[in-house]
Amino acid sequence: MQIFKEKEALKSTLNGLRSDGKIIGLVPTMGALHEGHFSLVKEALQTCDRVVVSIFVNPTQFDNPKDLEKYPRTLEKDLELLQQAREDLIVFVPNASELYGPTVTSEHFNFEGLESVMEGKFRSGHFDGVGTVIKLLFSIVEPHKAFFGEKDYQQLQIIRKLTEKLELPVEIVGCPILREDSGLARSSRNERLSKQHREKAAFIYQTLLKSKELFGTKSAEYITRWVEEQFRNDPFLKLEYFEIANTKTLKKINRKRKGNQYRAFIAAYADDVRLIDNMPLNN
Ligand code: PAJ
Repeated sequence: MQIFKEKEALKSTLNGLRSDGKIIGLVPTMGALHEGHFSLVKEALQTCDRVVVSIFVNPTQFDNPKDLEKYPRTLEKDLELLQQAREDLIVFVPNASELYGPTVTSEHFNFEGLESVMEGKFRSGHFDGVGTVIKLLFSIVEPHKAFFGEKDYQQLQIIRKLTEKLELPVEIVGCPILREDSGLARSSRNERLSKQHREKAAFIYQTLLKSKELFGTKSAEYITRWVEEQFRNDPFLKLEYFEIANTKTLKKINRKRKGNQYRAFIAAYADDVRLIDNMPLNN
């Protein structure tokens, strides 16, 4: 495994690989790696000759300084796990000034409305931060393919829009959500949950499943009210939002239309840990 802290050294290694005709894949992460991340790495290894995993806790995408401070950082363990996963992985672990230069700020993007709903509405500036760091990583790695989880479905759609608008020659590959046995979507943040909250957080998944079942016969408005009611009485979880939205536009559904695909999206706090999840509603 090769580990790079400096972008110039990484670039020259990748230039060599590219000129040998190798297909380069990129899996961007913020570390504290778990099975969800490794499912992306596995998918990348299947279709690329060499895979770059980046680990960088990106400050510009955090709207809450406490969340940034408390974000788990487990670099040594991450590197060990990556080494075990595959010997020829390339790992990029820059610090902020290496990646951003002297001023660590976000660029402002217009993602045509994708950025102003759900996560964008509740986490101001979040997607400008994500867009900025991904644009930087793409410019350094110049991957043929980049892999993102459907766990952060809005982020995935925004990155598709970013590459489309900037006309970047990279294929964006979306990968399915990996879950714990309880159904809770795997997340680095789960490590911060108490045992009890971790058990209770599976309710988020159960709610999504039930919404999917109801979607066959009930209106989105009915389902939304039903979900809000379920959380109102829950002593462990606090609902931030539940929305049923069009998969492409991420706009809240008005009326079901034939041929359109819909997803349910949810964000909830378990104690002070913010969890998100989503599920396709069409079969
Ligand atoms: P991070 O939360 O570390 O996630 C890195 C990638 O792993 C994302 O594409 C995310 O969707 C995916 N992922 C996380 N949990 C998953 C799960 N349970 N199943 C499938 N995929 C999962 O997302 C970020 O980092 C950052 O915003 C980043 C894109 C790296 C930009 O800073």
